[in-house]
Amino acid sequence: MKIMVINGPNLDMLGSREPGIYGSRTYEDLCGYIREAAQKLEIETEFYQSNYEGGIIETLHSVFLENYDGVLINAGAYTHYSYAIRDAIAILKCPVVEVHISDVMNRDDFRKISVIEEVCTAKCYGRGFDSYIDGLEYIKKYLKTKQE
Ligand code: DQA
Repeated sequence: MKIMVINGPNLDMLGSREPGIYGSRTYEDLCGYIREAAQKLEIETEFYQSNYEGGIIETLHSVFLENYDGVLINAGAYTHYSYAIRDAIAILKCPVVEVHISDVMNRDDFRKISVIEEVCTAKCYGRGFDSYIDGLEYIKKYLKTKQE
């Protein structure tokens, strides 16, 4: 099982970025944390981070063309307004989980809005780095029940 983990704008600044909200661990720490949990779940992971919308969209296209089994996407602030990312997710046939480190439902009002939510299979948020692990577990279970 092969999953693409996409992180959007400013997530490369984890560790320095608003540590009261996002914690003191870095983006590299995040990738290591996800990779380790994924190995235990027998999931292969590929990581992509970009501060540019187009790069995220082209990575979503590669998920389609290269037959990935699932996607975890933390689109950062693009979550709240990028119809282009939404359209790219809508192309995919595999499960896509919207992920957020922080509790987006209890912050600024604009963060409560997700334009990608409707085209995603599930949403995991508010559990720090563990939101990504929740997403991995969700995809594993989802694919298992689909197989049965
Ligand atoms: C975020 C929440 C977004 O509102 C914000 O713009 C981010 C990070 C999160 O992981 O909590 O960049 O997606």
